[in-house]
This record gives sequence, structure tokens and C-alpha cells, in this order.
Amino acid sequence: MNEKVKNEIIKLKKEKNFLIIAHNYQIGDVQDVADFIGDSLELSKIIKDVEQKNIIFAGVRFMAETAKILAPEKNIILPVADAGCEMADMVDIQKVLKMQKKNPKAKTVAYVNTTAEVKAISDICCTSSNALLVVNSLDVEEVIFLPDKNLASYVKRNTDKKIIPYDGYCYVHNQFNILDVKRAREKYPDAKILIHPEAPEDVQLLSDEILSTGGMIKYPQKSDFFKFVIGTEDGMLYRLKKLYPEKIFYPLRENPRALCVNMKKTTLNDILLALRKESGEEIFVEENIRLKALKSIENMLEIS
Ligand code: 13P
Ligand code: SF4
Repeated sequence: MNEKVKNEIIKLKKEKNFLIIAHNYQIGDVQDVADFIGDSLELSKIIKDVEQKNIIFAGVRFMAETAKILAPEKNIILPVADAGCEMADMVDIQKVLKMQKKNPKAKTVAYVNTTAEVKAISDICCTSSNALLVVNSLDVEEVIFLPDKNLASYVKRNTDKKIIPYDGYCYVHNQFNILDVKRAREKYPDAKILIHPEAPEDVQLLSDEILSTGGMIKYPQKSDFFKFVIGTEDGMLYRLKKLYPEKIFYPLRENPRALCVNMKKTTLNDILLALRKESGEEIFVEENIRLKALKSIENMLEIS
């Protein structure tokens, strides 16, 4: 059944000249029909260089929005309109403005997992792979860092600047705890434990490597290790197993697995319906907001 739908999608996307891109956390079936799979920033960046005007972005809203900010001339379609990011939606603009007023000497760094409005009131964006580089590049000693308190803790441990964190978190990564790491160490003593910096600080400190999803994709290739424990959303395991069939990957938490409900909303059928223009939402960002948010993203791209 799935094969039939996959073939239909592949035929339609060619006929209609659509490009399908999927985030690393998407379900395996969706990854299988995608032209590109990657982390949030990689996907947003490639959009400018592709010839297709119509793009189906299988991910969550802030990623599709970031793509639209960078490539306003493209039609970016989010196949499931209510696929949001709980962490991005946690940020209260008024609270950020208050933090900025209270800390007038600080610059504001916004993780790409934020809405266009939050990017628009920030000085610069960052991703989990370049957060430290971004913070250290700033010509100020104080930095408001939002929204993820766990990524903020990683930056704080590695910089001399004063980090003023927003109290946000990703519920998928924040659920990992030190027992998960201890259990994995006992069960798989010869595996490397890779943890995303959205995990709590005590979990990060017990890991072997702290890596973004993009970093986790590259790591096994250069490592002599054969087994890896993956401390991030479950979709990464499908991607890693497909890329490195000769290596073994285990989830950090086996029961229940770490699933992002919003990332898992998009099915093959949603992609098919979006291709037929029967569902999905075309993303628009108000021009005034887009230009300000673009500045924050461009400031990041300049240094990374
Ligand atoms: P990346 O930026 O590494 O793709 O991660 C996005 C995300 O949602 C992490 O939870
Ligand atoms: Fe947002 Fe967390 Fe889901 Fe990533 S895994 S999209 S940060 S809720």
C-alpha cells in the first residue's frame, strides 16, 4: 500500500515540478520520498539554490517559515498546517521585550526554533551546531539566549560571556534523564553516546559527544566506533540506519521512545494531498517581519 502511494508521489512531483524536503525527524516513509533530508538550517538554505518554485516542506512550521524568509519568491507548503514546535510556541514576545529592557547592554540570540516574530526582535539567530560560535562572535559581554534553557546551559559552560536564558525547553529532549544514560552505558558499554544539546545539562555532561542533528549525521562516518546510542528524536535512527547500514544505532530511551508529536503528524497521504493542492498550507510571512527576521538569519549566516 505504502509503495503504491510512494510511487504516486514520485510521479506527481516530477509531473508538477515540485521539490519535497524532509527534516531528519520525519517518519521513514516521508524521508523515503524526499529529495533532500537534513537539519532545519540545511533545508532552509538549500531552497534558494534549487530550480523548483513549489516546495513541500515536511517538518514543522518554524522551519517552513525560515525557508520562506530566506526565499520569499518560492511557494513553501507545510503539508500539515498544525505541525508546530512546542518550544518555538513557548516564547512570549512581551516577556522577551521585558528581558531586553531589563538588560539593555545585552544582545539577543534566537535559536532558529522560533517564530518569525521572535527572530524579528532578535539581533542574530543560531542553530544547535553554531550557538557557541554565534555567541562568541558578539561584541557584547551579556547575551539573552532564547528559547532553550538546555542549549543555553551548553553555551554558558563554554563561553566567558554572561548568558541570560529564557526558560523554554523542548519536551522531547527535556524528558531524557541521567538514568537513561546510565542504563544505556550498562547495556551498550562499547557504544558512543551522542546527545543533542536540547537535553538537560546533567544528561549532556554524562554523554560522550554533544551534537546537533547535523553533527550526529556526520559523526559515525569519521568514528571508529561501531555502535552508537542516539539521544534525540526517534526519526534520526531511521536516517542513521539508512546512511550507515554497517553500524548499529540504539535509542537513548527505548520505552517510551522519544517522539515529537508534531514531527510525526505528516504522513505519506498528507504529502500526496499537498501535491494535489487538496490540503496543506502555503506559508506567508508579513514583509515587515520577514525583513527584520531575515537580518537576524543573515547575521548568523555571515559567521557560520
Ligand atoms: P535541528 O536544527 O538540528 O534540525 O533540530 C531541530 C529540532 O527541532 C531539534 O529538536
Ligand atoms: Fe520542537 Fe522539540 Fe519537536 Fe524539535 S523535537 S520540533 S524542538 S518540539
